[in-house]
Amino acid sequence: MSKKFSRLLVIAGLVSVLPTLALAMGGKPNNTDEEALNARIQPVAKIKLAPASSANAAVAGSRSGEEIYKAVCAACHATGVAGAPKMGDKAAWAPRLGVGLDVLVKSAKAGKNAMPPKGGSDATDEELARVVVFMANGSGANFK
Ligand code: HEC
Repeated sequence: MSKKFSRLLVIAGLVSVLPTLALAMGGKPNNTDEEALNARIQPVAKIKLAPASSANAAVAGSRSGEEIYKAVCAACHATGVAGAPKMGDKAAWAPRLGVGLDVLVKSAKAGKNAMPPKGGSDATDEELARVVVFMANGSGANFK
């Protein structure tokens, strides 16, 4: 193979790879871009989310895990909206439960990918822990 020809081959290779690279970088949604992801699921969140306080008359701080789950978390976790692990789906929860209750509560408080902080609720720390226990125990865990 002549030097000139092999150089041509390299250039042809580059030219054919570049558009694919450009597509991969710019054309596809970037999963780590939380803001974009949140923006995309926002319409869902806006339609489905009702603050727990308006969905029931109980005083903030004293609501049960089940109450808050039904009022807020079920909007996503009952059906698996936006990739939420479904309540009762042991296979979906198993890999998450291993990190332990504290870590789960922390990530629920901070939010994770398509999940907004506290799931968009006004739960207190104690209530949030209660509702995570409720959800996890309904999905194969045995947290106290
Ligand atoms: C707008 C939809 C939505 C709502 C409402 C929502 N979640 Fe989530 N939740 C998600 C999604 C999506 C994930 C998966 C996040 C991921 O791992 O990418 C998730 C994951 C979780 C996890 C697992 C976190 C982890 O580290 O694996 C917990 C715990 C959780 N949610 C608790 C709650 C609780 C408690 C509520 C109600 C107070 C709630 N969620 C409300 C969408 C939602």
